[in-house]
Amino acid sequence: MKAALEFSLAGKVVLVTGAAGGIGLAAAQALASSGARLMLSDVDPARGAKVLADFHALGLDARFTPCDVTQADSVIALIAETVAQFGRIDCAVNNAGVEHKHAKLADHDDDDFDRAIAVNLKGVYLCMKHELRQMLTQGGGVIVNVASVAGLGGAPNLAGYAASKHGVMGLTRSAAIEYARRGIRVNAVCPSFVNTEMVQRMVERNPALADTLNNASPMRRMGEPEEIGRAIAWLCADDSSFVNGQGLALDGGLTAW
Ligand SMILES: NC(=O)c1ccc[n+]([C@@H]2O[C@H](COP(=O)([O-])OP(=O)(O)OC[C@H]3O[C@@H](n4cnc5c(N)ncnc54)[C@H](O)[C@@H]3O)[C@@H](O)[C@H]2O)c1
Repeated sequence: MKAALEFSLAGKVVLVTGAAGGIGLAAAQALASSGARLMLSDVDPARGAKVLADFHALGLDARFTPCDVTQADSVIALIAETVAQFGRIDCAVNNAGVEHKHAKLADHDDDDFDRAIAVNLKGVYLCMKHELRQMLTQGGGVIVNVASVAGLGGAPNLAGYAASKHGVMGLTRSAAIEYARRGIRVNAVCPSFVNTEMVQRMVERNPALADTLNNASPMRRMGEPEEIGRAIAWLCADDSSFVNGQGLALDGGLTAW
């Protein structure tokens, strides 16, 4: 009988965007507990510094570099800084994202739509482009994008968000095929509603939503950030070595309906 499986990221250098809270922070914590060395990044340097201090207090190997993923120069500087600090990027978790106000498409706010596309889609595109260049140079790597169940199907009142996340799935699947024989795997996680500040902001704007979000899945609860973080860490690890081009639904069975 084989020994029990326990995946390891010992010594792997992992970059996480949007790491100052929510799913990005939970992913960073899961990755660190599996032995990864972390480059944490976020558009919010104050929260990033606080998270970094918490990691250092636990003796974890982590650095922080601020980055706005909507800006190519900022993304290029983040990749360069990661390579300068650690010498390589074994895995990249492209997690930074924003929601927009709930509204049917005919009532969408154009600025909201532009923002969702800029952060959620262009941001992932820019990160992937420059991560892939580094991974090609070093001979391999793993990318995990944080999409959504709204990247797998329609999302009423969130059409702009859904469009951005469908775009992330397009980038994920295309790059997975393009680089499969260059030692690079590309996957996405597709969570349903997860208990983070993003969802708290949605409920603050529209308190009636709380009931809908809590009862959306067959499990009749939201996901916890740690449940998403652990799946991200598994997709980064060699234990998922034949998983490529997938959007892994983490949704308590929502998409089974
Ligand atoms: N919470 C959910 O229900 C849920 C469900 C499915 C998918 N997601 C996705 O998970 C990811 C994380 O969401 P969350 O719920 O943890 O949100 P959150 O708002 O709690 O955290 C998002 C983090 O991203 C950072 N960020 C925002 N804009 C950025 C930018 N331009 N550049 C760099 N960093 C930026 C924020 O500062 C914040 O730290 C997002 O891509 C989101 O779309 C969330």
